[in-house]
Amino acid sequence: MDANEAAFYNMLSEMAALFDLEGTDKALQTSIALRDAIGNGAPALATPYVLDDMIQSGLRSAVHPGAVAVRQAHPVLHWAATSILDDYAPSSVSRHFTAVSLMGPGQFIEHNSLRAGLYMQTPNSYYQLHNHEAAETYIILQGQAEWTAGDVTETYGPGKIIHHTPYMPHAFKIFDAPLLAFWRWSGNIDVDTYRLLEDPKA
Ligand SMILES: [Fe+2]
Repeated sequence: MDANEAAFYNMLSEMAALFDLEGTDKALQTSIALRDAIGNGAPALATPYVLDDMIQSGLRSAVHPGAVAVRQAHPVLHWAATSILDDYAPSSVSRHFTAVSLMGPGQFIEHNSLRAGLYMQTPNSYYQLHNHEAAETYIILQGQAEWTAGDVTETYGPGKIIHHTPYMPHAFKIFDAPLLAFWRWSGNIDVDTYRLLEDPKA
């Protein structure tokens, strides 16, 4: 096994451990699918990407084991190139974030009812209110965010697990360091239900 493969499997293992902590049925199903993928090959080396410097500098000081695992797996993480939301969020919104889609229909870990991956949002940016039918969980690994989920707006940092029920509006304001999170969807995982919402802060 080469170093990139080992780093990728370690990242899947860290993701699974964190979704175990979330502990719901769908989170545990996600953990099982992540662990099933360990030992079955890593993605090909990623090609250079415009936000590589931000991603790598943002993770240099990482201490959360999940963030360290992402840093180590960087060579095989295909940031952004194919965001599942490309057809749904205008570039004025999607330029604030980048993602690695790992699990889902047609993704590296094939799954027809769950999605999971990595999310990173650029410093000093605001991802306006949006929602979707899928139930969603983010687990913050690095950085801080002022997070709106339904009626609650609070500032969170590494280790925080945030769950959005179907159609719960959510928005994320990021401060001067990029935000990194693991992410998953369950329920109706069709991206067609994704909508940007009216947001006075946008
Ligand atoms: Fe969402």
